[in-house]
Amino acid sequence: MKQKLEELKVLALAAVAEAKDEKQIDEIRVKYLGKKGELTAILKQMGSLSPEERPVMGQLVNSAKAELEEAIAKASKNFKEKAAEERLKAETIDVTLPSKPATVGKLHPLNTVLNDMIDIFQSMGFDVVDGPEVETDFYNFEALNVPADHPARDMQDTFYLAENLLLRTQTSAAQIRTMENRKPPIKIICPGRVYRADEVDATHSPVFHQIEGLVVDKNITMCDLKGVLEQFAHEIYGKDTEVKFRPSFFPFTEPSVEVDVTCSECKGKGCRVCKGSGWIEILGAGMVHPRVLKACGIDPEEYTGFAFGIGLDRLTTTRYKISDIRLLFENDLRFLKQF
Ligand code: DAH
Repeated sequence: MKQKLEELKVLALAAVAEAKDEKQIDEIRVKYLGKKGELTAILKQMGSLSPEERPVMGQLVNSAKAELEEAIAKASKNFKEKAAEERLKAETIDVTLPSKPATVGKLHPLNTVLNDMIDIFQSMGFDVVDGPEVETDFYNFEALNVPADHPARDMQDTFYLAENLLLRTQTSAAQIRTMENRKPPIKIICPGRVYRADEVDATHSPVFHQIEGLVVDKNITMCDLKGVLEQFAHEIYGKDTEVKFRPSFFPFTEPSVEVDVTCSECKGKGCRVCKGSGWIEILGAGMVHPRVLKACGIDPEEYTGFAFGIGLDRLTTTRYKISDIRLLFENDLRFLKQF
């Protein structure tokens, strides 16, 4: 048995020395050390030896086994390293090749202007709130003092989804939702999309954007309205821009105004952009109608407020001298990449 063991060991070690790759090493491992391997077979015969022979033989078998295992591990490591080296050689990367340019996204011009507006109002202490684009008749009209038969409904051609459900025509709906959920003092803006069944042309789109503003507290007057909106216009258009408050009408405000600024294109001389008037209308505003306050459970004897609705699209097209509002919605990358 001793002799057979010695022969096996020599044979196995020679095989390892001659192995050409990892696969052959594996085969040797199975052949000698596997469950049915030849060295394993000798180990299994140990039971037939006498008690004196057993420990002597056991030691010999174990040391032969250890020697073979070590040789196999060493050879296997060698082959792995060689393979890795070869792979690295084959895979050399030419770091001098020019790279593909990475395209970095940009904000849509509407978002750039909106972010500026949010900054301006936040610096004046306004919170930003959100409201649903699908509204009920109550929030979009009724609670804003526009009952069903009111002629002002004709000013805003509405997309109806169901009898009582519509796409909001104005962000003013957010005023009502805010007053239902908060107690004065209230100072919020609500930016968002609005929808009207308008014909599409260079200045009209069925989807556009407004920023609603609402301030309600004790002793709020028209002076506060003028101060806030003048400040806003100066920050957006520059200090040398003139701001004009024109009497107007909205069912939810009394008195109501519209605000014009000097045309940034011609500085007030009159041009194509301002249709020769020298002014550009940027928003509607007014003192919140007592009926609107009352509909939201706020006592108009105790509190007053002002509200405004700014058109974001007009502000964006005038700032960037964009001649057609449709460009804002077409998502043509050649157009958008300019900003
Ligand atoms: N909702 C008006 C519109 O779409 C704009 C507006 C006017 C909003 C006066 C207001 C306001 O909050 O007080 O034309």
